[in-house]
Amino acid sequence: MDNTWYKEDAFYQIWCRSFKDGNGDGIGDLYGVLDKLDYIKSLGVDGIWFSPIYPSPNADYGYDISDYKNISPDYGDLDLFKKVLDEAHKRGLKVLMDLVVNHTSDEHEWFKESKKGDDNPYHDYYFWRKGKGKDGKRPPNNWLSTFEGGAWEYDKDLDEYYLHVFAKKQPDLNMDNPKVREEVKSIMRFWLDMGVDGFREDVITFISKKEGLPNGFPLPIATGIENYNKGPHIHEYLKEFRHDVLNHYDCFVVGESPMTGADDALSFTEGQDKELDMMISFDHMQADCFMTDTIATPFNLKKMKAAFTRWQKKLYGRAWNALYLENHDHPRIISRYGSEKFRNESGKMLATMCYMQSGTPFIYQGQEIGMLNNHLDSIDKFKDVVTFNNQRLFKKFGFSDKKYLEIANKTSRENARTPVQWDSSEYGGFSTAEPWFGVNPNYTEINVAQQEKDPDSILNYYRKLLKVRKENPIIIYGDYEEHYHESNEIYCYERNFNGQKALIVCSFADHTVTFRAPKGFDLTKGEVLISNYHDAPAKKDICALRPYEARVYLYK
Ligand code: NOJ
Repeated sequence: MDNTWYKEDAFYQIWCRSFKDGNGDGIGDLYGVLDKLDYIKSLGVDGIWFSPIYPSPNADYGYDISDYKNISPDYGDLDLFKKVLDEAHKRGLKVLMDLVVNHTSDEHEWFKESKKGDDNPYHDYYFWRKGKGKDGKRPPNNWLSTFEGGAWEYDKDLDEYYLHVFAKKQPDLNMDNPKVREEVKSIMRFWLDMGVDGFREDVITFISKKEGLPNGFPLPIATGIENYNKGPHIHEYLKEFRHDVLNHYDCFVVGESPMTGADDALSFTEGQDKELDMMISFDHMQADCFMTDTIATPFNLKKMKAAFTRWQKKLYGRAWNALYLENHDHPRIISRYGSEKFRNESGKMLATMCYMQSGTPFIYQGQEIGMLNNHLDSIDKFKDVVTFNNQRLFKKFGFSDKKYLEIANKTSRENARTPVQWDSSEYGGFSTAEPWFGVNPNYTEINVAQQEKDPDSILNYYRKLLKVRKENPIIIYGDYEEHYHESNEIYCYERNFNGQKALIVCSFADHTVTFRAPKGFDLTKGEVLISNYHDAPAKKDICALRPYEARVYLYK
């Protein structure tokens, strides 16, 4: 099946709860999505990725699924989803679903059954183990959950523990059980038969656990991760899904892959027999933190460039990149890598820097209008299990709640989960009722309606940028060579394709800097395909770059 259309496509990610409320209950839903399909199409994207919209008790806002073959009543129902799918397809928009099969909700029927006893046919769908120690009261191993303390939860009726590497309401599925793999395939077929065009696969590299579940190397968080990240059977299981299901449909899959480097990525995405079509890398998202967003460090441009360069160079001609700067798991990118003061300039520059590389762009709701981090005045106003878990952790290390509030405002993924700001009316036009989560008060200035009217808006820049990408095969298929990788202010790379050259120049400085073009590039001869200032003055191979300036030159 030739599914390589995904290379030219761009996707828009919807985190439904905060996208647009269509039925006036303060929660985003599929009525809202239906209403905004024309808007999504107008961006110049080719498809939508839906973060989970299945029934869920929302311990992890949809990433804890209680029924894989249905739609959450918060968002609508299956008929409404089919309508959205149909209307999206009519507009030439593909639809990707989120496939979350490392774990289910503890409210899923399988888990409820599995708790009934060792002899229940669903018991072995999960990892149930006896406790350790004389009285059997110690957990089976020392693993820690990435979300909530220990990775084992005790069930007193069964007198056994179950494994959850995320929240305790997210028990891990035992993928070594062939019946579980059959269930996964059945879920895939259910949605593909309905007409969806592929999946984003949640923490897919975690699905195979090392036999015997041995103790892990002690770490402050996620102890044990070396025993399930890219575990022993990962390639085998992904190949099985590919051969038994995916190969029979015109679809593609993008796998979320924490702690995976570019070399590792090739083992999943290269060659005829590739298991995933692309992977969501985390490397470039760690230029202002250590391992996780919460452990913030000063933004380091060289670190970010090195990460992009590794993935661009390693995968070129062998595999394919997914390009993104935001999703529901990270704070807003302008607040991180750009400048809130130079929001307009830096928002456009960051988009240029990322999406002029080789790969499939993913744009997260609100990113296209340059939404910023939120600033809440109390931890009680946050909603997410991760925020509260981190609060406990930080407390352990002596941080006051006041200090932690500052940290959460800067680093929490909830910054990306405030409702989309559609206009300057009450609640930012997101809903007629009070939204489930507060709208960022800057909605009166930053909103879609205002940016629709402004030819210089970030929104209209995204449209132009995606058009430039579509119209210039060099941007999609060209190779990649970085220049000045030692610079702490400028990110410059060139692309080459069929005798053409492109030069992408981006300043990360909040002041004017001098840029000297790499050898062989005359800045007065190239065609400026796009830039975030009105003009692009230059003398031969030298120019002054204004704060957060970005230029894309094409040489035919
Ligand atoms: C990754 C998802 O993107 C995130 O939102 C979720 O909390 C975890 N996986 C667990 O499913």
